Order: sequence, then C-alpha cells, then structure tokens
Amino acid sequence: MELFLDTADVSEIEQGLEWGMVDGVTTNPTLIAKQGKSYLPTVKEIAELVPGPVSGEVLATDYDGMMEQGRRLAELADNVVVKVPLLPEGLRAVKALKDEGIPSNVTLCFSSGQALLAAKAGAAYISPFVGRLDDIGHEGMELINEIVEIYSGSAYDTKVLVASVRNPMHVVQGAMLGAEVATIPFKTLQQLYRHPLTDIGLDRFLSDWAATGKTFDD
Ligand code: E4P
Repeated sequence: MELFLDTADVSEIEQGLEWGMVDGVTTNPTLIAKQGKSYLPTVKEIAELVPGPVSGEVLATDYDGMMEQGRRLAELADNVVVKVPLLPEGLRAVKALKDEGIPSNVTLCFSSGQALLAAKAGAAYISPFVGRLDDIGHEGMELINEIVEIYSGSAYDTKVLVASVRNPMHVVQGAMLGAEVATIPFKTLQQLYRHPLTDIGLDRFLSDWAATGKTFDD
C-alpha cells in the first residue's frame, strides 16, 4: 500500500520523507488555510519537495472554473494531481482534464455509487472519507470494501485512496481490503510505528547489555 501524507505542513512532509515512508501528499483548502500561507505557492512548494503525486484541490465549483484552476494547478509541477469535488460538474471536469493528460483525485466521496461514477469519469484516484463516515455512525471501512469490490470486477484504473484517516487501524484495514493508497495525518504515521512492547523490549535489550559494563566494541 502506498502512504500519502494528508497535510500542507512542510516540516511534517520533510520528516516523513526522511523516514522514507511518504509516497505522495494530499492537501485540501482546510489544510492549507491552517498553514496561513498562499494557496498555489503552497501546492507548488510541496510538489517540488515530494517526488510522488501531490494533490492540490480546485476551489471553484463550476465546470469552467474547475477546468481553469485544474490547468493552473497542473502547470505548477508534473507530479500535481488535481483534486476535484464529487459533483456532476466536477466529474465532467475530471473527464475533460483526463483528455488533456491531467490526472485527478475525486474528493468527498461518501458512497460506492459516487465512486462508480468517478471511475467512469476516469479519475486517477477516488478518495472515500472513512473517518467522517465513522463520525456520523456509519462504517467507513464498509465503503472501502464495496468500492474495492466494484473496481476489481471492472476495467477501471482508478486507485482507491483511503481518506479522512483517523487512526492506524483505518490504514491496516484499508490495506487488508486491497485499497492501493491511504492518505494519513502525520500523527497517524507516528502512531503506525509505535508499539509498547517495542519500547519495553528495546529498554530491556539495552539495559541488559549496559549491566555488563561493556560497550559495542568490547
Ligand atoms: C482527503 O484527501 C482529505 O484531505 C482528508 O483526508 C480529509 O480528512 P478529514 O476528515 O480528517 O478532514
């Protein structure tokens, strides 16, 4: 499974890249607003930093506006993927952008029917928001299961990108269900590394050796 960081915080991206775990990045208007920086320059800065795909979202909601902003986002760097909301006009833009060679990530997907339409439109990625479904008492991972099944029986080349991830289990379950990508907050990446038995085990190894009074070279 590929792991993308869901952030517009450059220091988090730099850390994730240093650890060798970041295959790409997704941003959205909320995440960029949190950084207090300008919109397009932030997407450009991230796309220059990350070797893999970087999703930058259109702010327009009409077809012409999405096409204009999608083209401008795509011009920022070769690895920019245009994030488009799941609206009729959005999927129309996805199709037209694809015809121009511009890949898109369809965002705000909450049903398998929506995911089917996004794949028909030619989206490179579909982003089902599992955490926001869990938040309202629905089973977010059930949506991933349905989409993976629908896509696997078809010729679509749309990748399932588990989004709105809240915890490591969302990542693990998504991987088990066959989703190709998960986009995760930096905190979830940190949590994926951690296990209390790893810490306890390491402390014991080191203290047992320290008790001998010898060093690495003795
Ligand atoms: C997806 O690409 C979105 O940026 C993101 O995963 C939304 O997550 P949230 O529900 O935590 O805001």
